[in-house]
Amino acid sequence: MDSASSSARTVAACVIGGIVLGASVVALHLGAGPAAPSLPPVEALRRRFRRRHRPVRVYMDGCFDMMHYGHCNALRQARALGDELVVGVVSDDEITANKGPPVTPLHERMKMVRAVKWVDDVIPDAPYAITEDFMNKLFNEYNIDYIIHGDDPCLLPDGTDAYALAKKAGRYKQIKRTEGVSTTDIVGRMLLCVRERPVSDNQSHSSLQRQFSHGHGQNIDDSGFGNGTKISHFLPTSRRIVQFSNGRGPGPDSRVVYIDGAFDLFHAGHVEILRLARGLGDFLLVGIHTDQTISSTRGPHRPIMNLHERSLSVLACRYVDEVIIGAPWHISKDMITTFNISLVVHGTIAENMDYTEVIKLSFSWNMQMLNLDN
Ligand code: CTP
Repeated sequence: MDSASSSARTVAACVIGGIVLGASVVALHLGAGPAAPSLPPVEALRRRFRRRHRPVRVYMDGCFDMMHYGHCNALRQARALGDELVVGVVSDDEITANKGPPVTPLHERMKMVRAVKWVDDVIPDAPYAITEDFMNKLFNEYNIDYIIHGDDPCLLPDGTDAYALAKKAGRYKQIKRTEGVSTTDIVGRMLLCVRERPVSDNQSHSSLQRQFSHGHGQNIDDSGFGNGTKISHFLPTSRRIVQFSNGRGPGPDSRVVYIDGAFDLFHAGHVEILRLARGLGDFLLVGIHTDQTISSTRGPHRPIMNLHERSLSVLACRYVDEVIIGAPWHISKDMITTFNISLVVHGTIAENMDYTEVIKLSFSWNMQMLNLDN
């Protein structure tokens, strides 16, 4: 990332802090890149290690700032290259030194990474570049077999490759980067949504918009502003949804818990409420509202992430068993029966409905409010 984009990131972090904190606190071609030629195929290694009763352990690191489904898809692909996935989450200081300050702090980024269902272990404060010392620690202490990264170049400020040592050691593997999403892109979408700003901010704001909306020009109207999810370049496929899905329904005696919402810009608060909700039963069904529903209730600039993007982020969460892609605003009796829902939960600040009306619909299920402070 060049210095102009770093400084833009710095300013954006401040701007987004204002936008996201207000909203958030409360509230994809699998294809391993070309394998290193000298390495035996992963399947052969996996079999050899299994014979030795030792799983193949792979390591992926990253910033995972404003965690999105592209990060989740990277973790999914990395996990498929081994039996256990260890993820190094880069420290705030290292990100600041190499890319500019992160929008979300380490503890939130850790929480997000830990919540991804393909992650087995997390290492905090990982270095941005794989140093010799850290690489040896990975191999000797964490029993890592391969270090994995997306097929985008990861360069240090001096222009050198952050993974050069791992490549030289023959222990590096690549996964295919997911097109259509990045933290920078999301920040750009958010900036494009900020319409009401004081005149004094206009110049720097416009320049940030130009920078972060690079490549999205066709979606920006004459005023320089786009509209929410219209700028998404993500093309959802049935295969991607299957890859993210658990593929299992509830058992006949399962206590199905239902929670619905927008789950826009999936964040640590969402993870926490999903964790609490899952703890109240043994199957968590999450209803994701349509883009139209969200626009009509929260304003024309929302959601930032479209229905399929939001669905993938929620599906990647380990506490979630299934999602309804485009859930109705009102929970009907039919829905309760069809999905065998035992309990409907929502946060103490849910805004979408009169739950007393829902309770009247059936005697066989309950409704519970969850407070994130619990
Ligand atoms: N990654 C990916 N697809 C994306 C974004 C990231 O496969 N759309 C991968 C990266 O290649 C890396 C891992 O996710 O292996 C963590 O990425 P991160 O360190 O957070 O940095 P970026 O690549 O800069 O991600 P972003 O542009 O979204 O900030």
